[in-house]
Amino acid sequence: MKNNPIIPYILIMAFGIGLIFFMSLEGAGNEKEIASHGEEATTEEGGATADAGAGGEELVSTCIGCHGGDLTGGMGPKIAGLDAEHIVDVLENGIEGTPMTPGLKTGAEAQAIADYISSLK
Ligand code: HEC
Repeated sequence: MKNNPIIPYILIMAFGIGLIFFMSLEGAGNEKEIASHGEEATTEEGGATADAGAGGEELVSTCIGCHGGDLTGGMGPKIAGLDAEHIVDVLENGIEGTPMTPGLKTGAEAQAIADYISSLK
């Protein structure tokens, strides 16, 4: 029984079961949070505008992987400080033939991101 070839599979399975268990616990915790958010949205007016306003800074997490942590360039070019209108245009239409694909963000989200990025240096 030395080097039983099944052992790695059992380890992976044990890991998988552990992960599922962990995720279901996480999910149960989030459920309350999600439920309370829903309430807020219905009781508090202007929640949507507040979200859009705060969004830009958080939404750029999508861009950081390619444009660098401070958006001054990585695999993609520096985008910090660019014209907001240009950024919205690139987000919605993309740049053909490059990893900058169209529709990464659209509408209010694109605008929030663009406003935030154009305010950077
Ligand atoms: C998968 C990688 C990737 C992601 C994710 C990504 N970009 Fe890009 N982006 C690029 C690349 C590469 C280019 C340069 C394309 C070229 O060669 O012209 C680019 C170009 C741009 C340009 C044009 C720059 C200029 O000088 O005109 C803007 C604006 C831009 N990205 C904004 C964003 C924003 C905002 C996000 C996040 C919502 C984002 N990108 C996410 C890869 C990415």
